[in-house]
Amino acid sequence: MPNCKISRIDSYITTFKVNNKIEGFIIVLVDVTEMENVREERQRNQALAAIGQIAAQVAHEIKNPLGGIKLNLSYLQRRSGENEEAKEVIGEILTGVDRLNKTVSELSSFVRPKQLILLPIDINSVIEQELTLVADKIKQKNIEIERNFQFDLPTLMADHYELSKAFINFLINAIDASYDLGKIKISTQQEDNKIVVAFIDYGKGMNRETLSRLFEPFFTTKSTGTGLGMSIAKRVVEMHEGTLMVESKLGEGTHIIVKLPVNQKLE
Ligand SMILES: Nc1ncnc2c1ncn2[C@@H]1O[C@H](COP(=O)(O)OP(=O)(O)OP(=O)(O)O)[C@@H](O)[C@H]1O
Ligand SMILES: [Mg+2]
Repeated sequence: MPNCKISRIDSYITTFKVNNKIEGFIIVLVDVTEMENVREERQRNQALAAIGQIAAQVAHEIKNPLGGIKLNLSYLQRRSGENEEAKEVIGEILTGVDRLNKTVSELSSFVRPKQLILLPIDINSVIEQELTLVADKIKQKNIEIERNFQFDLPTLMADHYELSKAFINFLINAIDASYDLGKIKISTQQEDNKIVVAFIDYGKGMNRETLSRLFEPFFTTKSTGTGLGMSIAKRVVEMHEGTLMVESKLGEGTHIIVKLPVNQKLE
């Protein structure tokens, strides 16, 4: 249905009397869509804050013992000499420990929003740096990276470390979704007082459910994912007063568009 909008309406009805005789009814309809949306958003934020607190505690409790387990395992691996089977088993446990470590550190950075350190950055080189980090993954799938960079972009005041976390997640997600010999387009351009960065892949895309739950912490469709990548990315972009837009079509691919204002003040 074109231009179809679903609204939530509250209705009130009262009788309309003349000389104590009911002459009719007065029906008042109030559009409460906006109010309801705000209430739901507030409820969601409260729930997330509560989850965040528990998650922070759990992450803290897990971190130290994990460090110890890893050290002891590495020791055992060194001491297992020629016993290849033992080495293999220890290697598998170490992989599991590394995965747990990744989850815990993502969890910590998710629940601990930090003060941004804004410095002048060149957004094209941030993307290049992140591309180097995922070079192996790109090579494995023989993915072509098409760059459409504007080179005379204004300087952006941003937190390099935080922004990298968002960009690397967009890249890894795009690579994971891409087919062998696929293509990922990355573009940067200035649009008024904003720098627009787009990550476009032609991979498997997302279905309705995935798209609607994309920013939900811990939502993942991957066996090795933590499901925190997009929630962290969204928060990083919003902390820079930017916007994040996602468009995706199942079987066709995904567009991630980030808009960052260039007139950020140093804090
Ligand atoms: N470019 C994309 N194409 C297709 N699906 C995507 C894309 N980006 C995200 N998704 C879907 O959204 C889900 C959530 O993404 P998110 O980055 O938050 O977590 P993840 O990649 O599963 O795990 P991680 O925490 O390691 O990033 C993914 O599991 C995937 O199903
Ligand atoms: Mg991810």
